[in-house]
Amino acid sequence: MRIDLIRVSKSYGSRQVLAGIDASLVGPGFIAVRGPSGAGKTTLLSILAGQIEPTDGSFAMSGFSDRMSVDWIVQSAPILAHRTVSANIMLGPLSKGLDATSSMRVSLGAAHSLGIGHLMRKRGFSLSGGERQRVAVARSIACAGELVLADEPTAALDAHARGAVCDGLRAAVSSGSLVVVATHDEYVSARADLVITLQPAVHDVN
Ligand SMILES: Nc1ncnc2c1ncn2[C@@H]1O[C@H](COP(=O)(O)OP(=O)(O)OP(=O)(O)O)[C@@H](O)[C@H]1O
Ligand SMILES: [Mg+2]
Repeated sequence: MRIDLIRVSKSYGSRQVLAGIDASLVGPGFIAVRGPSGAGKTTLLSILAGQIEPTDGSFAMSGFSDRMSVDWIVQSAPILAHRTVSANIMLGPLSKGLDATSSMRVSLGAAHSLGIGHLMRKRGFSLSGGERQRVAVARSIACAGELVLADEPTAALDAHARGAVCDGLRAAVSSGSLVVVATHDEYVSARADLVITLQPAVHDVN
């Protein structure tokens, strides 16, 4: 599966945020989108998700199945405070139609790849911020779809937790996903198969 971006541009009013992005994103694979704040990383992810249209240029997806789903991983994804880590992660695969036994199995696998396997019985409220963030990532990747879009999934994490999130995203790639990560984190982009660097080319078009 692949996504081809040809001269993709996006403007908000007279303000150009993306200026002619050319890239081929081939899956399974791990793609990092980097660039300073305001460079258009979230905007590009939203285009890939089909949430917004480019103002100019073309964008073609091929090799995805008809029933493809997009997994969005956001930094502030909420988790249920009074449910266990296990129950929180299982919500992901259960919502995709997996039965309870399979959901438990893939949830454990995701938790281990994210280094939170030992926390399965803890409740949401008793977790640190970084642990909570990894639970949210595990919920999304336990049964990852063909396209996983992660917006700054390692922001505010320490080196250990950042490594764990990269391992978890890599596990999704191993199970066949195209993973696209918007990140400021050199550690993440160093582990990517392809890095797309967005310039802060914010200027008025008129
Ligand atoms: N819906 C919108 N309407 C108008 N301007 C927008 C909209 N969404 C984003 N922008 C502007 O587009 C620019 C790029 O935003 P975007 O969120 O894509 O940046 P980013 O690279 O993800 O930044 P950050 O690293 O801070 O998350 C910013 O200047 C932002 O203010
Ligand atoms: Mg952003």
